[in-house]
Amino acid sequence: MSGLWSPSRPPAASDEIRWPLDLGLPDVATFPRSAFMQHLDRTLAGATPPLLYGGPGRKGIAMGHAGLRAALAERAGVCPDGRSPSDAVMLTSGAAHAVELLWRAFLDRGDAFAIEAPTWGAAIRIGRSLGAEPLAIPMDRDGMCIEVLERELARLRSAGRRLKIVYTIATYNTPTGWSLSLPRRQRLLQLAEEHDFLVVEDRVYADLRYDGPLIPAMATLAGGDRVVSVGSFSKTLAPALRAGWLVAEPHLVDVVAGHREDLGSSQLTGDVLESFLRSGDYDTHLSGVVALYRRKRDAVVTALRAHCGDAVRFDVPDGGMFFWIELAPGVDGSTVMAHAREGGVACRPGEAFFGDDGGHEQWFRMAFTMVPEDELVRGVQVLGDAIGRSRSTSTSEPFRRRGRSEMG
Ligand SMILES: Cc1ncc(COP(=O)(O)O)c(C=O)c1O
Repeated sequence: MSGLWSPSRPPAASDEIRWPLDLGLPDVATFPRSAFMQHLDRTLAGATPPLLYGGPGRKGIAMGHAGLRAALAERAGVCPDGRSPSDAVMLTSGAAHAVELLWRAFLDRGDAFAIEAPTWGAAIRIGRSLGAEPLAIPMDRDGMCIEVLERELARLRSAGRRLKIVYTIATYNTPTGWSLSLPRRQRLLQLAEEHDFLVVEDRVYADLRYDGPLIPAMATLAGGDRVVSVGSFSKTLAPALRAGWLVAEPHLVDVVAGHREDLGSSQLTGDVLESFLRSGDYDTHLSGVVALYRRKRDAVVTALRAHCGDAVRFDVPDGGMFFWIELAPGVDGSTVMAHAREGGVACRPGEAFFGDDGGHEQWFRMAFTMVPEDELVRGVQVLGDAIGRSRSTSTSEPFRRRGRSEMG
């Protein structure tokens, strides 16, 4: 066999990435293999027709495994008026699928939706593919700048238009790691009421909390009935499970379910995950990964300070999977990325998170969860070498020391 995918074709030297610090994925060694196997055995031993055929009915197919929906509704603390809590949850093939279904259900050509700048690039691309217009709202360390959103809302209103959705990764945004403060969450919900838009809160990183304040999920605050929460097991367990969900008022879930043509998400996987959640094994697993990732984060802070010094600036993330790193003036970002790849390190350039015309090359995202603990420091050292090689001595200016958390 020959061609691009031939197993005998060696990858080009620049494709040999030994430290994939560009990927926001769990550490494969954390997958709870033996506990998972017990729950899988249990599911297979008792597999009933609905587990093998889906349903019951068209609605059951669209919504997914009823037991897992009920377990997730309990965790989210939802209790809708006059409906069963599981009616507030729909299972999807990952959070990406939930976002895609939501965008298809609520955005039409020409509609505006707001996003944080920077944000998860797929949320922008999916909206654009439907002909909707993303409005980039800048962020600071307290999350999306709500005053800018208010100005955009006034501008749209005076043009006779309406904002349909505000998409926020309110807890541990990718790529920044920043979270939307409680007062801003409250203000956003007031605005949603006044201007009649939905808030889609993407919570895929929310359970990975290392320290810092615990800020309540938006759906639990006053006005939270306008919130659709999106979640996933991709970041805490394994992305290839393709197990995600959305939680919302049942009438909103019904609208989204009506847009679904894919015959639902895996009932078998749903059954295993319900058993895994209800047994307490998921929470045990979660505390283990949080402890490991906190250690990895701290190791990266020390390594960045040692190997990248005053050429970088970053905040120490309270949670999530990423460092958002700014390069000092005179250190060319694209040259750093190229030298890092030659050395076997990949990071994700800033451009990937904006969806505009660029100008973000002094920033990049570095993930710290996937690469094994004993390899991480070496990866940062290679990155430090790449930065050193990319420094132009004539224009390079080191960052001056600012707050404790901001310096590398
Ligand atoms: C913010 C955000 N939402 C959703 C996803 C996709 O998650 P899933 O694998 O559950 O589709 C990602 C990751 O790739 C992400 O960063």
